[in-house]
Amino acid sequence: MYDNWEELEQSIKNCTKCKLCQNRTNIVFGTGNKKATVMMIGEGPGADEDKEGIPFVGKAGQLMNKAFIGLGLKREEFYIANIVKCRPPSNRVPEQDEAQACLDYLRNQVILVKPKIIVLLGSTALKNILGKEYGITNARGTWIERKQIWYMPTWHPAALLRDENKKIEFWNDLKEVKNKINTLAEK
Ligand code: URA
Ligand code: SF4
Repeated sequence: MYDNWEELEQSIKNCTKCKLCQNRTNIVFGTGNKKATVMMIGEGPGADEDKEGIPFVGKAGQLMNKAFIGLGLKREEFYIANIVKCRPPSNRVPEQDEAQACLDYLRNQVILVKPKIIVLLGSTALKNILGKEYGITNARGTWIERKQIWYMPTWHPAALLRDENKKIEFWNDLKEVKNKINTLAEK
């Protein structure tokens, strides 16, 4: 674990801890406010993210940005990262060994950001962060508190592109997050 961003970022450059290193263009480290109250965690980079080195810049990310704007939330206020930092081939779900290899970096990012709230975007984020016993269909929309962090599991924005009904639930979950930010700020 590193106690500063420079060393952490340095340590990940040229990472070959898992086989996802073989096909990546860029490591997608994470972006946003390093002192954010809210951290968003996705699954892994897609083609656009791999090309640009920034999380959630493709279609799914653009949809998420629209939801932020609609709710009066600012993307720049959040810290956004993924379970794995290199693109899985054909956007497949990260395998267990890959997620395990990469999670240390993400844990270190959480320690440095010290968020009060973590939004888990989809099943991969939920299962790798809170445990395999959780399922996204049941857990989404409910707060789970662990070690003084409030977790809100919700749909992965890519799922919204395939299923209109999920958009409303995603919207409601982000509204919950907005309310929680306000409640925590009043304390
Ligand atoms: N999907 C993810 O899970 N993360 C990204 O950064 C982009 C798409
Ligand atoms: Fe390293 Fe993570 Fe990329 Fe695997 S996915 S090579 S652990 S940075």
